[in-house]
Amino acid sequence: MKEQLESIRKSALESILGSQAGADLETVRVKYLGKKGELTAVLKQMGSLSAELRPIMGQMANEVRAAVEKAIEEQSSILEAKALQARLETETVDVTIPGKKLKVGHKHPMYTVLDEIKDIFIGMGFEILDGQEIELADYNFTKLNTDEGHPAREWSDTFYLMQDSSVLLRTQTSNMQIRAMETRPLPIRMIAPGRVYRKDEVDATHSPMFHQIEGMVIDKGITLGDLKGTLNAVVQKIYGEGTVTRFRPHHFPFTEPSCEMDIQCHKCGGVGCPTCKGEGWIEVLGSGMVHPKVLRNCGIDPDVYSGFAFGMGLERLAMGQFKINDLRLIFENDVRFLEQF
Ligand code: DAH
Repeated sequence: MKEQLESIRKSALESILGSQAGADLETVRVKYLGKKGELTAVLKQMGSLSAELRPIMGQMANEVRAAVEKAIEEQSSILEAKALQARLETETVDVTIPGKKLKVGHKHPMYTVLDEIKDIFIGMGFEILDGQEIELADYNFTKLNTDEGHPAREWSDTFYLMQDSSVLLRTQTSNMQIRAMETRPLPIRMIAPGRVYRKDEVDATHSPMFHQIEGMVIDKGITLGDLKGTLNAVVQKIYGEGTVTRFRPHHFPFTEPSCEMDIQCHKCGGVGCPTCKGEGWIEVLGSGMVHPKVLRNCGIDPDVYSGFAFGMGLERLAMGQFKINDLRLIFENDVRFLEQF
């Protein structure tokens, strides 16, 4: 039996070392160690051995089994390493094949302008507020000194969401003046950009949805001088040093006095050209000193505090800056258009 075991060990190890693939190794394993394998057959004869020989032969058989198992394992890792090496040598990456182009988006021109304006105001100590687009008529109109009967409240101008006209899509970002005064400690310096909605037909200069940027400062001793100084400084940053402005009297229900600010056309210097439609001036924003009634509506004493507010159309600014002549282009999101900026 000893010779039998020796010869099994010898031939098994030879076959293992000669194996060139994992499948060969498996065949060897089955041939010697399997249920009907050669070593198994020898073990089955153990019963016929004498009591002295049995443990000796048993130990030897175990050693042979261990040696064969170990050899299979070692050969298996050698074969795996060889296979990997072979794959690495044959599989090459052709770096000259053209890659798949990833489409990368980029900032919409309107947001380029908005971010620039935000930067300017943040630099002046303003905070940026976000506001709701679905608003109570109270905040869009009444508290802004725009009582029932005002033409802006007409059903033909405003998207009401309730039969009783109490809830609507805000028609202006001025609702944020009230929201800010009701929720923030004084003094306040804020801008609030966002969407507004009006029942306008779509054409080159109108859209039922557009964007405004509202701004407001409330503190002790704020005057019209602060309004002009602040807005002039902002305009110099947007349109360049030396930009000439003028303030025209106007009417807004929530400011008193109210004015509109124009800039002298930066294209023609005020002579008149297509950019300013021959006017020499371009209207930029509406503004004014916050009406005492509005302050009182928000629980602020107008004898102690005063403030100014302004509102501007964001699309109009972007159209001016990028020489876009049709408002619809801003909303259509045609990549061929957007890619130009
Ligand atoms: N909300 C006004 C509008 O939509 C714009 C405006 C005018 C805002 C004067 C203001 C302001 O804050 O003081 O036409």
